[in-house]
Amino acid sequence: MDITKASLIELAVSAFSKAYAPYSNHPVGAAILSEGGLMYAGCNVENAAYPLGQCAEATAIGNMVLNGSKEIEHIVIVGPDKEICTPCGGCRQKIREFTGASGVPVTICDQSGTIVLETTSAELLPHAFGPDNIKNNT
Ligand code: THU
Repeated sequence: MDITKASLIELAVSAFSKAYAPYSNHPVGAAILSEGGLMYAGCNVENAAYPLGQCAEATAIGNMVLNGSKEIEHIVIVGPDKEICTPCGGCRQKIREFTGASGVPVTICDQSGTIVLETTSAELLPHAFGPDNIKNNT
């Protein structure tokens, strides 16, 4: 495995350990590789008012945008145990916003950093609606 991917997985595992998930008991970590090799992490942040909880991918995307990047090149998601923690539907759309229509690699790991699924964002959200579908978005 290349060093960048190994670092991205390590970052996502570290984010997983910081998750705030007292209600679901389902911690999630995410790490994004962006332009120029920059990496951004996120964890899920739940709330006593349940629907207000935020997914790990959303936190990582917010971190990326806040720091000036707008291109996801690869995303790693870490979930608990051996369950395959694929991104929820809303996060698939959020990821689509910052990838091209052809998609980017998505790597799903367990909490030890072992890869349990390699897929792409385009496979997870085929025929997606994205920025290119809005005519006046140039
Ligand atoms: N969760 C994520 O953070 N990312 C996903 O892609 C799937 C679900 C979180 C949301 C909630 O805090 C917990 O996992 C259980 O749904």
